[in-house]
Amino acid sequence: MDKLLIRGGKRLSGTIPVSGAKNAALTLIPCALLTDEPLTLRNLPRLADIDGFQHLMTQFGVSHTIQGKRPEDFGRVVTLEATRVTSTVAPYDLVRKMRASILVLGPMLARAGEATVSLPGGCAIGNRPIDLHLKALEAMGAEIELAQGYVKAIAPDGGLPGGEFDFPVVSVGATENAVMAAVLCTGTTKLLNAAREPEIVDLCNLLTAMGAEIEGVGTSDLTIHGVPRLHGATYRVMSDRIEAGSYACAAAITGGDVLLAGAKADEMSATNHALRNIGVSVEEEKGGLRVSADGPLKATNLSTAPYPGLATDMQAQLMALLCKADGTSVLKETIFENRYMHVPELKRMGADIEVDGRTAIVRGVETLNGAEVMATDLRASMSLIIAALAAEGETTVRRIYHLDRGYERLEEKLQLAGADIERVGDD
Ligand code: EPZ
Repeated sequence: MDKLLIRGGKRLSGTIPVSGAKNAALTLIPCALLTDEPLTLRNLPRLADIDGFQHLMTQFGVSHTIQGKRPEDFGRVVTLEATRVTSTVAPYDLVRKMRASILVLGPMLARAGEATVSLPGGCAIGNRPIDLHLKALEAMGAEIELAQGYVKAIAPDGGLPGGEFDFPVVSVGATENAVMAAVLCTGTTKLLNAAREPEIVDLCNLLTAMGAEIEGVGTSDLTIHGVPRLHGATYRVMSDRIEAGSYACAAAITGGDVLLAGAKADEMSATNHALRNIGVSVEEEKGGLRVSADGPLKATNLSTAPYPGLATDMQAQLMALLCKADGTSVLKETIFENRYMHVPELKRMGADIEVDGRTAIVRGVETLNGAEVMATDLRASMSLIIAALAAEGETTVRRIYHLDRGYERLEEKLQLAGADIERVGDD
């Protein structure tokens, strides 16, 4: 296993390219199941999770070809083609490695009239149930059966009629599965209190480009008129607002000045608002966002919420930044029940943080010290990197396979901005 060595104290400057969004790509890829024509996705990030999802798709008979991108380029162009679906089963040994595999349930059910997917189980940040995915599909006419650790969904008479579902809790994945199932229904589907994340808008934009009829895109009330078939498309994945926000925190904690090339301000307004409250300058520029911090950082209270609120995926990174702010910040994590695993590791670097249930109290400190730390989940790993960039001395971050799931060539991007960071084999 690799580890990252970071020697803190360097101000970040220059340009960091933002890659395609992991959480958009993971819902765009399964859309290939919704047509027997080629689906070409551009700006796909080179990430372990994306490779894993493409491997899962081959289990169903979906071919994929990677087109003309040089190895040194960020991102890639991939064409997926589900001419025929040869299997409707997503096996345990693949799903357990990547819980986003559950996103094949809706499109497979829509295409083949049935789908058998291993239950994804929980993960480090929470038990991550899928009850809302299943209830939404049942509301559209699916018959759902749970047996031997698998969920089996069947569309009676081979096609879903559609229906209406009001989400009791905003769920990104359940909204995505429901939308992907609804586009080929024989009737109309209404989804109320649907998630509004930009990744959902990206999904709806792709499906519309494939011939779907969706009203209310970007709002929490979606109406989807089923169509008999969808055609192929070529579509560019949106830029990764969480990656951009993560590098913004890295620039800010080092007192740097960085252009985040490809970042879109209107997709990350809650993050930008939080950064400005902390005393970080965030300015739109041609081609991206310029983030700089040359004065003291200010303590700020933050609470995560479904979009357009502050993304839970930004909590750990902003916490790392607030470890160096003047004063005391109170953070509330309202989405997941166990998303503070970065705290013990940050405290080993000298951070002063107390956790009480879903609330974390962060008292800013003058100095963070380099240490040996352990990554535990994707965003927690990034918070350790951010802290290490401002720490005195050297930090070793282990188990960085967590990072490789969601940050494309992280150390290369940070080296571009002047960070002293290298990837080495773990002895
Ligand atoms: C997506 O996860 C993202 N993953 C997560 O990003 C992100 O943190 C999350 O949305 C919230 O924004 C992908 O897009 C691949 P949810 P998802 O369903 O869809 C509860 C990252 O770091 N819930 O919106 O699984 C759930 O327990 C990852 O990139 C149910 O109760 O999140 C949670 O408390 C981490 N029943 C809340 O809803 C369900 O059936 C929100 O979860 C589904 C969810």
